[in-house]
Amino acid sequence: MGEKLKVGVFGASRGKTMMDVLAKHPDARLAAVCDKYRPLLDEVKTLAAENGIEVAVYEDFEDFFRHDMDAVVLANYANEHAPFAVRLLHSGRHVLSEVLPCETMAQAIELIEAVENSGKVYAYAENYCYMDHTFEMWRRVENGEIGEVNYAEGEYVHDCSSIWPRITYGERGHWRNQLYSTFYCTHSVGPILTVTGRRPVQVVGFETPQDERTLALGALAGGCAGIEIITLDNGAIAKSIHGGLKREPGSINYQVYGTKGMMETERFDASRLNVYIEGGKLCEGELQNVAPEKFVSPELAKRYSGHGGSDFYATHFFIQKILGREEGIKYSIDVYRAVDMGICGILAYRSILNGNVPVQVPNLRNKEERGAYRHDTACTNPAVAGEQLLPAYHTGNPDIPDGAYERVRQLWLDGKNAE
Ligand SMILES: NC(=O)c1ccc[n+]([C@@H]2O[C@H](COP(=O)([O-])OP(=O)(O)OC[C@H]3O[C@@H](n4cnc5c(N)ncnc54)[C@H](O)[C@@H]3O)[C@@H](O)[C@H]2O)c1
Repeated sequence: MGEKLKVGVFGASRGKTMMDVLAKHPDARLAAVCDKYRPLLDEVKTLAAENGIEVAVYEDFEDFFRHDMDAVVLANYANEHAPFAVRLLHSGRHVLSEVLPCETMAQAIELIEAVENSGKVYAYAENYCYMDHTFEMWRRVENGEIGEVNYAEGEYVHDCSSIWPRITYGERGHWRNQLYSTFYCTHSVGPILTVTGRRPVQVVGFETPQDERTLALGALAGGCAGIEIITLDNGAIAKSIHGGLKREPGSINYQVYGTKGMMETERFDASRLNVYIEGGKLCEGELQNVAPEKFVSPELAKRYSGHGGSDFYATHFFIQKILGREEGIKYSIDVYRAVDMGICGILAYRSILNGNVPVQVPNLRNKEERGAYRHDTACTNPAVAGEQLLPAYHTGNPDIPDGAYERVRQLWLDGKNAE
């Protein structure tokens, strides 16, 4: 083949995961990295030296933007992906976006139209769809092993309160402090959509009570969990739950039921999957407990360990799709499915704010369904929402004194966890 694809990474914290894949990938090379936090760029230099590659580093996005790159990975703030993706797509770059795809409904449409108009590849790095268990569920449902899906669950329980200093740096405006319960939904909704192959058509949202100790760390939503009850386009029902409930280790669990059987992850052993397939007689069948194996490019995938190897696939499928290869085209998550995943959370919050009413989820593949949302900027980020600003919890925003953020910042500077 010709020259390797030149890929840049924007955001060098989580972006380190993609850098590790790119530094060793047979079809791509890590060309440049941008982060305004200098110590992370110093780590990039170490990575480059270890791998014998040259990587340009930039603190300023505009300088990075001008670098010669075919594609860019967005691992910047979770609520700022869409505007950067739109700009990069229009500049002729392919884009791999970390979670979440967009902060508002208006951004969802801008993002879709930027992909359509640029003709570039957009891929969504929802790595939880490529974990050994969720990827195996995807494969088996596609093979028809459990028949037509009628119910599914996705669960991502991750209490980040102890590491709050390390992931928010005591910044009042950090996206993790501003987020509402159902925003960060695609680790649980995402695999439901890839496994079932269905589209959401309606969502009802709920949020749990706030946690006082997480409130004291500066999180406006107080670490509450978000729940989405989603109707899929074949009438199946799905439940997604995610957030900082008390459970150690955290929970990454899924289950899916169909007309011929079901599958569920082992609740405390993510390496195993229970599979029930009904035979010819009602209520009788075979129950298996299996350890799923990687089935796509397994040798290459096994070189990487992040999130059970799933971190590799998001980047790998993006590269393969740009190169027009089958596995990338089949498994890379495109902009429509990415937006389906993300807007379930955005619209579930409307449901919560309106007393848990059902909210229709538009099919934004259809141009005629976009008009109603084109100017819909409602979100909890004052810089984006304008007059459509929402509170981060259904009863309103709590008053959090500056001292709370100063305390968290000091913990971060001291390299300590919150207790
Ligand atoms: N898929 C997963 O398993 C997973 C895990 C962790 C984080 N994430 C995602 O990764 C992304 C980043 O999260 P994070 O944990 O690294 O924390 P973060 O959002 O605090 O880090 C973002 C990084 O981008 C840099 N950055 C942001 N805007 C910038 C700008 N304009 N110019 C220069 N640098 C800028 C920041 O300095 C920071 O280092 C988020 O989208 C998050 O949702 C995904």
